[in-house]
Amino acid sequence: MLEIAVLASGSGTNLQAILDRQRHDPDFGARVVVVISDRPGVPALGRAGAAGVPFEVIEFGDHSTREAFTKAVCATAEAFGAGAMVMAGFMRILSSEAVERFPSRILNIHPALLPAFPGARAIEDALEYGVKVTGVTVHFVDQDVDHGPVIAQEIVKVDQADTPETLRRRIQEAEHRLYPRVIKAFANGRLRLEGRRVIWS
Ligand code: GRF
Repeated sequence: MLEIAVLASGSGTNLQAILDRQRHDPDFGARVVVVISDRPGVPALGRAGAAGVPFEVIEFGDHSTREAFTKAVCATAEAFGAGAMVMAGFMRILSSEAVERFPSRILNIHPALLPAFPGARAIEDALEYGVKVTGVTVHFVDQDVDHGPVIAQEIVKVDQADTPETLRRRIQEAEHRLYPRVIKAFANGRLRLEGRRVIWS
């Protein structure tokens, strides 16, 4: 069983998809042992509480540097026995120490087809650029933001009438399908890295 810490800053719909999968799929192979948020009072924490999962708030402003914040996040994940960290809408960048402590054991989900549209405004940027397809990427986290090896991607078509809200809704539907599937494969040892390429078995 892979014990995971889920890092979330907001609504936590991906966290919910993971928790739902964990509850319904006996072969999931992963268990959320703690939810960590940098913001108090967010819905993600309510979802953790409702599922009986411990949660911790680690505020960025309570730490003097990004390094100190990162140490606190890693130490909390480790204290709960997590062997991997899953970022699900976590809006803080961790320093390189996180990747050193959890090498190829941090996953992130991004609402675009990386390397297109990295950053926090991926959905708006894709719409403004005028692409006809965008989508979702799950990747391993490395030292650079939105850069690590791609594990899986799902395409979402852009409609002419889309607003950021309508496109976000369809992207999130894809996220909720894709992330639990990837976590299951990762937890069951079905992902292998060859350089930047992730090989599924
Ligand atoms: C998702 O769209 C994810 O791609 C991005 O942040 C959003 C989090 O949504 N990194 P939620 O908190 O899981 O609802």
